[in-house]
Amino acid sequence: MTDPAPPTVDDALARISALLDDAGVPDPRTDSELILAHVLGETRGRIQALAVMGRALTAEQAERATELTDERARRVPLQHLTGRAPFRALELSVGPGVFVPRPETEGVAQLAIDALLAVPDPEPIAVDLCTGSGAIALSLAREVPTARVWAVEKSPEAHAWAARNVAEWGEGRVELLLGDVAELALGDVAELARESTAAPDPGSATPLAAVAALAGRIDVLASNPPYVPTGMVPRDPEVRDHDPEMALFSGADGLDLIRVISRVGRSLVRPGGTLVLEHAEHQGRAIRDILAADGWRAAATHPDLTGRDRATTALS
Ligand SMILES: C[S@@+](CC[C@H](N)C(=O)[O-])C[C@H]1O[C@@H](n2cnc3c(N)ncnc32)[C@H](O)[C@@H]1O
Repeated sequence: MTDPAPPTVDDALARISALLDDAGVPDPRTDSELILAHVLGETRGRIQALAVMGRALTAEQAERATELTDERARRVPLQHLTGRAPFRALELSVGPGVFVPRPETEGVAQLAIDALLAVPDPEPIAVDLCTGSGAIALSLAREVPTARVWAVEKSPEAHAWAARNVAEWGEGRVELLLGDVAELALGDVAELARESTAAPDPGSATPLAAVAALAGRIDVLASNPPYVPTGMVPRDPEVRDHDPEMALFSGADGLDLIRVISRVGRSLVRPGGTLVLEHAEHQGRAIRDILAADGWRAAATHPDLTGRDRATTALS
């Protein structure tokens, strides 16, 4: 008996969508189009066109699409399967060990970009704490071509993904540092800064000394830090089983690292400079209180495109 003919793109989309729908994937049609786009090396729009034109898959393409569909039905994030995550003008490399950048963070990046574009200095300085894949830092560098950007990440696995992305998208203007933001709070920023200039060779200084050396000169400090209360179980399997714990959890109320960033940010950001923080929907009030207690001015919480309060800004 001969093998059945490989399906058309249209048939494959219907089959993949039905399987993903059964598995509870939130937007099965979109994911089915993106799976086929990845397998065929085409854009999503072109897949829609090929479906209308009645194009057939090859046997190899059909087999690969089936493998990826099975993994996606087990709720492996689509971005881990394709290895790429779109973010604003970028397509970032992602996979196990790094937080997949989310659409709502594109709005947070916009707040930071707007603040950076408004800086009169010809070479404004921005720092992205908790950079993950590098999404915010790299968007700042790309969309504010005069900016110099520093990015800090604690997880060596995430740092390795960020390093790939900095090499691909950083345009030589993003300096990536492996380190814990809390190091900036422990000693004091001035001490770390001294280390950076006094170290006998640059490699012997604490990596974050390079950020401390910018104290009082940073125009925009942005961060999408972990902000989920420790012990809370994320509902989506993609988050629960595949986002690194270090990317999600931060103390009983989720605000431990935001408290640190608020405190160290006061020493780092120049007078009049801007802090931009992403957070969960119901954390805006608590964060504005933290910022006010640390001496930040004009703290304001901003809704995302769906109307949920997901970012807070303040001035130093
Ligand atoms: C929610 S993820 C956000 C990643 C990226 N900024 C984005 O928007 O896609 C938080 C990131 O903070 C990093 N992180 C957690 N604690 C940190 C710390 N103390 N210092 C530096 N980075 C930290 C995590 O490893 C993770 O990459």
